[in-house]
Amino acid sequence: MKANVIAEQTLFPELFQTEESTNTTTFQDNMKLPVHRWYRYTAGFSGAWVGQLIEQEKTFGRHNIIDPFAGSGTVMVESMMHGVDSYGVESNPYVYNIAQAKLQWKYEKVDELKKKCIDVLTNAQRMEVEKEDYPELITKCFPLPTLHKLEALKMASAEISDKEIRNFVWFIITSILRSTSPVGTAQWQYIQPNKSKSNVLDPFEAYRRKVTEIFSDIRQVEGVFGKSSNSEMLREDARDIQGIPDGWGDLVITSPPYANNYDYADAMRLEMLFWNDISNWKDLQDKVSVKLIRACTQHVSTLKDTAPEYIQSPLLAPIRDELEEKFTLLQAERENHGGKKNYHFMVAAYFYDMAQVLNSLYRVTNQNAKMCFVIGDSAPYGVYIPVDEWLGKLAQASGFNDYTFEKLRDRNIKWKNRKHRVPLKEGRLWINK
Ligand SMILES: C[S@@+](CC[C@H](N)C(=O)[O-])C[C@H]1O[C@@H](n2cnc3c(N)ncnc32)[C@H](O)[C@@H]1O
Repeated sequence: MKANVIAEQTLFPELFQTEESTNTTTFQDNMKLPVHRWYRYTAGFSGAWVGQLIEQEKTFGRHNIIDPFAGSGTVMVESMMHGVDSYGVESNPYVYNIAQAKLQWKYEKVDELKKKCIDVLTNAQRMEVEKEDYPELITKCFPLPTLHKLEALKMASAEISDKEIRNFVWFIITSILRSTSPVGTAQWQYIQPNKSKSNVLDPFEAYRRKVTEIFSDIRQVEGVFGKSSNSEMLREDARDIQGIPDGWGDLVITSPPYANNYDYADAMRLEMLFWNDISNWKDLQDKVSVKLIRACTQHVSTLKDTAPEYIQSPLLAPIRDELEEKFTLLQAERENHGGKKNYHFMVAAYFYDMAQVLNSLYRVTNQNAKMCFVIGDSAPYGVYIPVDEWLGKLAQASGFNDYTFEKLRDRNIKWKNRKHRVPLKEGRLWINK
């Protein structure tokens, strides 16, 4: 995009409100974009928008990009395509592997990679699998003949000695799992064993299609991707970033977990069970949940004594009074609901965690830095939490300068059966250093 067009867009954003820009916050359009489409990560945001923003900010001399909540690597993929360097931080090991695989194809041995991917299918088709002993959720989600084909792909991939290529094949098999299962997937990627869907693919056919898609994309973007830039994924915690040099970044593009009770660990349970990375709920908590920003009640059940300590922490001083008020309201409201959810703990832990992230980001960014957080507010049990405003205040306490919120869309206004009637919004929180 030409620089003057970008400048006009910055000055007159309303005139450039296209369908694409209103879809900023969703992954939907990425399913039409090369590389992004390899894995549907419903928590992701729009690659096209990220690309536009990178081009715009290049004109202000910003070339070092950071995404502290990198997810499926949308920002890293776009950075590669637009020739800027980037770091992505992702603490969920499973999601980290997805992003890592998407960046891996700058891999010099593409021909070898392709050959190995094809070999896996050929070898799997020859295998006889008889295994019947699978975790309960797996047998609920896949009929046995499907499982045997998936198992054959898994066994064939285990024979690859080159670790990078083996990881890439892991990614391909992982990315087809949902399409081969006859059960449903909810909006937030939770598996729904009791719901069925009609469009189901045979595992070998799904694998063949995915390999075709991936290598046709690689051909398409080969000339640009990774030629003049570096993108690195770090399997780290955004609350304590270690792998990015101090003062390195000048543009942060990110979308943190929202304080809306979505469980990023649970969303990947099916895939992690399939690969034997976990065997039960406790494993999931120990291996994944503890590494995540605490944005859902499942992750805060033991905070009885700690949550009040968080509120008194100097980190939360700028929002302490307001937070304390909401904490008390949520604690009281809890008694009126059967589920007795600990939203009061969640809210205290969420902002305590995010304050640490903002401190971390202050350290790894330079004086020219600008940050864009795609964020939504929330209202657990109908108690409104002004997430954008509180994050802005916490950013200022970390040393950042001014902040503004740009609303993109309203939420929670459509459905009749919604849990509360508090209007919510989603948009971009812009923060300058
Ligand atoms: C809204 S998603 C980001 C999606 C990303 N923008 C994309 O397009 O794929 C938030 C991500 O933050 C990750 N996350 C949660 N807590 C984290 C932490 N403490 N450190 C790093 N990543 C974390 C989650 O696993 C999730 O993938």
